[in-house]
Amino acid sequence: MTNRTTEALAERYRRVRALSLALTETLAPEDTVVQSMPDVSPTKWHLAHVTWFFERFVLQAHAPSYIRLNDTYDFLFNSYYYTAGQMHARPRRGLLSRPTFDEIVHYRQHVDEAMLRLIEQRQGDGKLEFLITLGLNHEQQHQELLLTDIKHVLSCNPIQPAFDPELTVPESASPGELTFTEGPSGVQPIGADAKGFSFDNETPRHDALVQPHAIADRLVTNDEYRAFIENGGYRKSELWLSDGWAAVNEHGWHAPLYWSEDHKMEFTLAGPRYVDGNAPVTHVSFYEADAYARWAGARLPTEFEWELAARENPVKGNLLESGLLQTASGIGQFYGDVWEWTSSPYTPYPGFKPLAGSLGEYNGKFMSNQMTVRGGSCVTSTDHIRATYRSFFYPDQRWQFLGIRLARET
Ligand SMILES: [Fe+2]
Repeated sequence: MTNRTTEALAERYRRVRALSLALTETLAPEDTVVQSMPDVSPTKWHLAHVTWFFERFVLQAHAPSYIRLNDTYDFLFNSYYYTAGQMHARPRRGLLSRPTFDEIVHYRQHVDEAMLRLIEQRQGDGKLEFLITLGLNHEQQHQELLLTDIKHVLSCNPIQPAFDPELTVPESASPGELTFTEGPSGVQPIGADAKGFSFDNETPRHDALVQPHAIADRLVTNDEYRAFIENGGYRKSELWLSDGWAAVNEHGWHAPLYWSEDHKMEFTLAGPRYVDGNAPVTHVSFYEADAYARWAGARLPTEFEWELAARENPVKGNLLESGLLQTASGIGQFYGDVWEWTSSPYTPYPGFKPLAGSLGEYNGKFMSNQMTVRGGSCVTSTDHIRATYRSFFYPDQRWQFLGIRLARET
């Protein structure tokens, strides 16, 4: 790190860390403790876990004089890094009434002071710079999770409290007719190059064979999805994958998660609102996205088709930082509205090498039984979105902002 990169990194460190706390400003301490299902982590746990990540993988490894604030935190706030030691069970995170919210803020300050000292002292250390950048990208992933998780937590409360009643939820403009654009086919380069930050699962850049295809210029809207529902989409077994049909029947799915029984209202971060017909449909599982595509006479794009199309489109608008936090604008863009299901299973690229040591557990060990999603959502920071970014979810998960883009053969 040169002097200038040191300053830039310290500045970015302060900014990302400050946003995590800013996201909790509208919450009461009681809100931050609740775990509404095993997939959801309490707000308080997110704030502590991202701090533990810096403590465990940066400070303990690179700052010999660092003293841990509390030894129990190494057990409480490890998520899934078995090679780093034992951990508190994920489904029991909601039982952690202690440490208190204030104690976790104090933990954050303790680690921040040590981190900023380390950044200052270790100018010119490229490996350390990568590690800290990884930690900041990790924190941005958890900022997104913090918001999707608190949305689920609040939705489970019968009084339906808003995360922020002041949130702006503008009416979406009419999206226009759905059109398809032919994408590049043949042997195409896929994945991240050496420029800029990427997670290990985006590499190595490699050649992939892409069949002739066309991809939709915009996302599927709530009105379009409602037509699928009204046409009996959830009752026609022939539209569904076998596991999807089993999930429909097991869970009694009849609409996207957060829609009311009569399909008029949906729970949002601003509280219950009328479903905006022109906004992209969101909170649907892979199974629902796949069934909708079949009903519409199309299919989901592969992750390669998606990446080739997205590369042509700039990352615009940052709903997270503009305070909208809803899927309401920019339906025609590839980034920052909803994560988009692809038809691609989440698997390693040819020649994939996980990061060395415990950080190798970050992505690689989840490459089984999950589907790749692309694009980032309205609660993803803009500087955390890129065309090669691969996130992944189990096909029945719905609590993230997950939506549908269609593709078809040509
Ligand atoms: Fe994490």
